Amino acid sequence: MKVSWITLTAGLANAASIAVSPRALPNAPDEYSPDNVSCPSTRPSIRSAASLSTNEKEWLEVRRNETLQPMKDLLGRLNLTSFDPSGYIDKHKSNASNIPNVAIAVSGGGYRALTNGAGALKAFDSRTDNSTATGHLGGLLQSATYLSGLSGGGWLLGSVYVNNFTTIGDLQASDKVWEFKNSILEGPDVKHFQIVSTAKYWKDLAEAVKSKKEAGYNTSLTDYWGRALSYQFINSSSNDGGIDYTWSSIALTDDFKKGKMPLPILVADGRNPGEILIGSNSTVYEFNPWEFGSFDPSVYGFAPLEYLGSRFENGVLPKDESCVRGFDNAGYVMGTSSSLFNQFILRLNGTDIPSLLKDAAAEILGKLGEHDEDIAIYSPNPFYKYRNSTAAYSSTPELDVVDGGEDGQNVPLHPLIQPTRNVDVIFAVDSSADTEYSWPNGSSLIYTYERSLNTTGIANGTSFPAVPDVNTFLNNGLNKRPTFFGCNSSNTSTPTPLVVYLPNAPYTTESNTSTFQLSYEDKQRDEIILNGYNVVTMGNGTADVNWPACVGCAILQRSTERTNTKLPEVCSTCFQNYCWDGSINSTTPAAYEPRVMMETSGATKSQLNRTAAVVAFAMMFLMTF
Ligand SMILES: *[C@@H]1O[C@H](CO)[C@@H](O)[C@H](O)[C@H]1NC(C)=O
Ligand SMILES: *[C@@H]1O[C@H](CO)[C@@H](O)[C@H](O)[C@H]1NC(C)=O
Ligand SMILES: *[C@@H]1O[C@H](CO)[C@@H](O)[C@H](O)[C@H]1NC(C)=O
Ligand SMILES: *[C@@H]1O[C@H](CO)[C@@H](O)[C@H](O)[C@H]1NC(C)=O
Ligand SMILES: *[C@@H]1O[C@H](CO)[C@@H](O)[C@H](O)[C@H]1NC(C)=O
Ligand SMILES: *[C@@H]1O[C@H](CO)[C@@H](O)[C@H](O)[C@H]1NC(C)=O
Ligand SMILES: *[C@@H]1O[C@H](CO)[C@@H](O)[C@H](O)[C@H]1NC(C)=O
Ligand SMILES: *[C@@H]1O[C@H](CO)[C@@H](O)[C@H](O)[C@H]1NC(C)=O
Ligand SMILES: *[C@@H]1O[C@H](CO)[C@@H](O)[C@H](O)[C@H]1NC(C)=O
Ligand SMILES: *[C@@H]1O[C@H](CO)[C@@H](O)[C@H](O)[C@H]1NC(C)=O
Ligand SMILES: *[C@@H]1O[C@H](CO)[C@@H](O)[C@H](O)[C@H]1NC(C)=O
Ligand SMILES: *[C@@H]1O[C@H](CO)[C@@H](O)[C@H](O)[C@H]1NC(C)=O
Repeated sequence: MKVSWITLTAGLANAASIAVSPRALPNAPDEYSPDNVSCPSTRPSIRSAASLSTNEKEWLEVRRNETLQPMKDLLGRLNLTSFDPSGYIDKHKSNASNIPNVAIAVSGGGYRALTNGAGALKAFDSRTDNSTATGHLGGLLQSATYLSGLSGGGWLLGSVYVNNFTTIGDLQASDKVWEFKNSILEGPDVKHFQIVSTAKYWKDLAEAVKSKKEAGYNTSLTDYWGRALSYQFINSSSNDGGIDYTWSSIALTDDFKKGKMPLPILVADGRNPGEILIGSNSTVYEFNPWEFGSFDPSVYGFAPLEYLGSRFENGVLPKDESCVRGFDNAGYVMGTSSSLFNQFILRLNGTDIPSLLKDAAAEILGKLGEHDEDIAIYSPNPFYKYRNSTAAYSSTPELDVVDGGEDGQNVPLHPLIQPTRNVDVIFAVDSSADTEYSWPNGSSLIYTYERSLNTTGIANGTSFPAVPDVNTFLNNGLNKRPTFFGCNSSNTSTPTPLVVYLPNAPYTTESNTSTFQLSYEDKQRDEIILNGYNVVTMGNGTADVNWPACVGCAILQRSTERTNTKLPEVCSTCFQNYCWDGSINSTTPAAYEPRVMMETSGATKSQLNRTAAVVAFAMMFLMTF
């Protein structure tokens, strides 16, 4: 199989000309190791971030059209009384810029964020059983243009997109992926894999990384981590942990090209060794299916993802340099966005893995430096000397990239507030562990907001609605139920999306597991997924019968403003109930310890013992946020 892919893909003038390809592809030239291939007739180069890529522009035309029918269907189900969504969309569809442009963002936070975010996507997906019934929100995913994720949220995106835009239900039902009862340190259940033991699993991780190193590429802990993640998230027919799946191959899949799914975007941060990142000064990178790069003024450029690993200099690939493919291994990309969790594989001590295996793993990992363990090395640096920049990243032959949440912006909003993307509304699913008991408190939004204020510097054209301080989030309950930010668009001079904040809260189970909990029984996994479903639907509308209609109002708000169309009466009630009204209460609140709000038939109370779940080292890390 490997050989046939080399002959199929190497030397193709334009990768897009690959014939109908059903799903994300095992199309790397040499398994985990990047490899030289012949260059396409137009040599790959770095482009300016001043506009969207041609690929994205062309794809958007297809996708925006594909969202029209799902949006009509969804809005039609949301009980918008006097408003005729179908008529509205038909009236305005000839000018796509008038149609609602919807985005969804799923935060980081390890397996908690993966499962809570999965519940949100399951609720938004019209393919989920009963998700189009009254009180539900199925079809929002089909109506969305963009879907961004970082860290644990990135694992969710990878699981869905690399596996043929599969459903959450299918991932739950699979006995090959999403088996979180098997800790990532032990590896997958042997019965499905060629791997005969945990020792062999570790040996395979090590061999893959070694092959990349032997091909002349610097490696880091993230390489091991990414390989390990792949065994949990990529369902490859050869049961090899998706060793030759690339992130760029998502763009080659048939349904993606036909615009049948939103554009997936993973987020990571740039950081030089020893630096401290805060929201207001980090370079934020994105991985979309075509490119890797940043809109930030520091880099302001994008590299073709498929050819990452090629030795670019000042934006071009010099004549004597080969084109390289296979660097963008799907697991490595997911691992980059979640590199904070590299710590896991260094902290084998806190686990119940037999000591013999710990020794074996420690032996493999021991040779790695103790410093900057969370860094993913992108070497060669695609932005080496790009734009003759004087920024630090530009002069180093390697680019250091870290977990997308390390700058505090744990909800991946950055790609969605770029003015060139013209997003109207962002459904921001926040599973951050900001409080003592691992609940979100709005910090992530605050970081993004503060960054957007530096209009002459790092904000670089982005705009974000005003949000209050953390204490207000807690005192006013803005972190316990959905809250809209930016309802009044006249408050900002530049177009700013409406943000529908959907914080993790205990609807039906205590979904505040530790970020560093490494294994989950299926039951707990599924209960948190269901809780996430209830978070975004407000218990299928049982907490507020108007909530589904309010989601419709949020989708339509910016669009109807542009077309000067009146929203139905229910929207006034919605905006009154859900828009942050600008009030502040900065009194220091008591510890936030919410109780489970609803019981569902059949749902049993979680067996979670928080104390036991928290791996000892976690505290140290949580305190750095
Ligand atoms: C991918 O999903 C599409 C849509 O559900 C389906 O038609 C196609 O057969 C799937 N491909 C694979 C390889 O499973
Ligand atoms: C728009 O989408 C509809 C429904 O999928 C399809 O029938 C139509 O051909 C599309 N039009 C364009 C211009 O792509
Ligand atoms: C639809 O909305 C009306 C008015 O807001 C409300 O009285 C009614 O119960 C809603 N119907 C459903 C099925 O939710
Ligand atoms: C869907 O609804 C039907 C009818 O109410 C019910 O029997 C079925 O169990 C539901 N399915 C799920 C997955 O909730
Ligand atoms: C970001 O800000 C922090 C705190 O002021 C500082 O320590 C760090 O060096 C800054 N990083 C960069 C990349 O400027
Ligand atoms: C963003 O940064 C780039 C690179 O520094 C600059 O050329 C561009 O004008 C900036 N855009 C805005 C809107 O400030
Ligand atoms: C693991 O535990 C052993 C024995 O308690 C100790 O000697 C060793 O240093 C620990 N290793 C790490 C990486 O903490
Ligand atoms: C970078 O500098 C080189 C040498 O001075 C010059 O030829 C080139 O045009 C510059 N490139 C850019 C993008 O400014
Ligand atoms: C704004 O950004 C510039 C350049 O990125 C930086 O030098 C400056 O300190 C920032 N200002 C504030 C108030 O953060
Ligand atoms: C909402 O619907 C889902 C799926 O149909 C169901 O499993 C869940 O129990 C419902 N939530 C509530 C609070 O009834
Ligand atoms: C502000 O928050 C504090 C602490 O939660 C609370 O005791 C107080 O009643 C709040 N004040 C107002 C005006 O709501
Ligand atoms: C939770 O686990 C810890 C450590 O095993 C134990 O000390 C504690 O008693 C447990 N708490 C409850 C409520 O079971």
